[in-house]
Amino acid sequence: MEEKHFQIAIDGPAAAGKSTIAKRVAAKLGFTYVDTGAMYRAFTNAVIKRGLDPKSEAQAVTLIPGMDIDLLEDGRVICNGEDVTKVIREPLISGNVSYIAAMKPIRLALVDMQRAIAKKHSVVMDGRDIGTYVLPDADVKIFQTASVDTRAIRRYEENLSKGIKTSLEDVKNDLRMRDYIDSHRDFAPLRPASDSIMIDTSYLSIDQAVEAVLRSIRKKLGGNFQC
Ligand code: DC
Repeated sequence: MEEKHFQIAIDGPAAAGKSTIAKRVAAKLGFTYVDTGAMYRAFTNAVIKRGLDPKSEAQAVTLIPGMDIDLLEDGRVICNGEDVTKVIREPLISGNVSYIAAMKPIRLALVDMQRAIAKKHSVVMDGRDIGTYVLPDADVKIFQTASVDTRAIRRYEENLSKGIKTSLEDVKNDLRMRDYIDSHRDFAPLRPASDSIMIDTSYLSIDQAVEAVLRSIRKKLGGNFQC
């Protein structure tokens, strides 16, 4: 009999803490963590690196054939053999990724990669459209939010710790712009799935947020999990 692979979907706006929480939940459950945002970022980096216009779908889609993005277990992101883990967090990429993520042919190509991973492993997958489009039958769907002020401060501090120089105001404007583009695009926009569980992390510590997600998983899947 084929082994059952579990799917936990975590969606929400930019910088709501999804990756930190999803990574810890995946480690607790022994599942594979899939950061789908990193895939859109890696694609955006490839477009910019080749001197193409990230707002031009005609130019960007030329990179779909042969595009190879690997998310390694240790968190590194490899794009066509190159380690892009650090560069994809730079403001240049953050400021352009929403344009690339709004292009349907690119979404379809990356969604294929995401579904292929979920076919082989139990996953905790984070993104914008995981519960609504990528894994519509996910066992548990979480929609994680936080106020824009909280998210801006978190992302600003994260940038500082990574040596990326930005102002708090620029970070906040970038988040607002990305949320707008991500939730207003035609194909697979950011929105909660009708069967998702809402978790607002504005006033939760990381540990509390992880516990809230694990509680939801236990409640939904009952005895299947010791977590
Ligand atoms: O989670 P993140 O900030 O690294 O995501 C980068 C961008 O990619 C974000 O602006 C929206 C887009 N994205 C998406 O459209 N769908 C996903 N499943 C994941 C990310």
